[in-house]
Amino acid sequence: MKVLVLGGGGREHALVWKLKQSPRVTEVFCAPGNAGIAQEATCLPCDLNRLDSIVEATLKAAPDLVVVGPEVPLMLGTVDELRRRGIPVFGPTQAAAQLESSKAFSKAFMTRHRIPTALYVQVHQASEIKAALANFSAPIVVKADGLAAGKGVVIAATKEEAAQVAADMLNGSLGEAGKHVLFEEHLVGEEISFLLISDGERVAPLVAAQDHKRIGDGDTGPNTGGMGAYSISTLVDDNMRDWLLRHVAQPVIDGMAAEGMPYTGILYAGLMMTARGPMVLEFNCRFGDPETQPILMRLESDLVEAFEASIEGRISDGVFHWTPDPSVCVVLAAGGYPGTPEKGKEIHGLDTAAAMAGVKVFHAGTAMKDGKIVTAGGRVLGVTARATSLEAAVTRAYEAVGKIHFDGMQYRTDIAHRRLKK
Ligand code: AMP
Ligand code: GLY
Repeated sequence: MKVLVLGGGGREHALVWKLKQSPRVTEVFCAPGNAGIAQEATCLPCDLNRLDSIVEATLKAAPDLVVVGPEVPLMLGTVDELRRRGIPVFGPTQAAAQLESSKAFSKAFMTRHRIPTALYVQVHQASEIKAALANFSAPIVVKADGLAAGKGVVIAATKEEAAQVAADMLNGSLGEAGKHVLFEEHLVGEEISFLLISDGERVAPLVAAQDHKRIGDGDTGPNTGGMGAYSISTLVDDNMRDWLLRHVAQPVIDGMAAEGMPYTGILYAGLMMTARGPMVLEFNCRFGDPETQPILMRLESDLVEAFEASIEGRISDGVFHWTPDPSVCVVLAAGGYPGTPEKGKEIHGLDTAAAMAGVKVFHAGTAMKDGKIVTAGGRVLGVTARATSLEAAVTRAYEAVGKIHFDGMQYRTDIAHRRLKK
């Protein structure tokens, strides 16, 4: 069968790499892809911000299955449109993807269905800010309702700051995304990425992962899309997994079905493990990036089978088989990131790193220029390794990182530090 993956980041490279391992897959397309994906799949030009461009690329590939990587095409209704055209597609509909595309929808939904999450108040205009803030003590989390490419969440140290940030958002500092604003209770704890697959009724969990959102070692500096992630069986033990399935995963799937928006695809719960128990920070309606790189490195079963089980309504516990071996992904970012990244820098050492046993270098923001692979985005590569222990996986990943170089390259040296200390 022919498969088309929509997207062009590290997550999509990992999806392409894994899908290619399926004995049933004869050809993989990716739109738009990147320089690394182009070595493993046929890349097609595509503007993921436009439904007509997505449809055009899909018709060109004529795939038997489409897998949507990022959130924007989901929000645009890619799944609805391709289904309407009779093309099998893995992912949630536009209505179901509101769990990610609208934080107001998502918080109200969690409240309706008693899914554990931080207390919140929504405001629609500046005159409501003062009264809303009376419910909170600092620090206060301020969130824009819509998708804001990682800029929509501010942790304000004082009420005054929270009021100012909210007023700016309502004033259009983030465009449409900030038309509604949420204040949220500030939660403390360790963050975990808990992903599951659903067919609209049933769920099966993936192995959990932990991201590293800040740019700097020791979780310092500005937020990013994620600077590295690891996956290890002990991150979420059997008891916790069962608890999360019962109190988070199944209630979401049941609630969405009951409200007429059955949820199919990957659901990603961003959790804060607080002293009061796990709380949902947010839902993403897709695989995480970079979490997908270490997660798929641990997958031993056929990913196509799982996607088809979701589409055909036959998800069961047996859809995934995992190795107990831990894996870790270190993101190499361009100079300037998370601000404006430097582009066009030649990347050296890719072949040497890729030749290492147990290592896979996933490409994100890379492009081919004059026969050379150069940087083309904020997060450039995800150097991922798997080994029999977390220590060994971390050592191997950083050994591979040591072989790669480009001007301005930055990365964290402490990925998985929380588990290594324990
Ligand atoms: P979100 O896009 O909602 O996941 O928020 C981005 C990041 O902001 C999260 O990964 C957390 O690190 C932080 N965050 C969001 N909500 C809260 C909260 N209620 N308490 C503490 N930190 C939060
Ligand atoms: N790594 C966080 C995300 O994919 O949203």
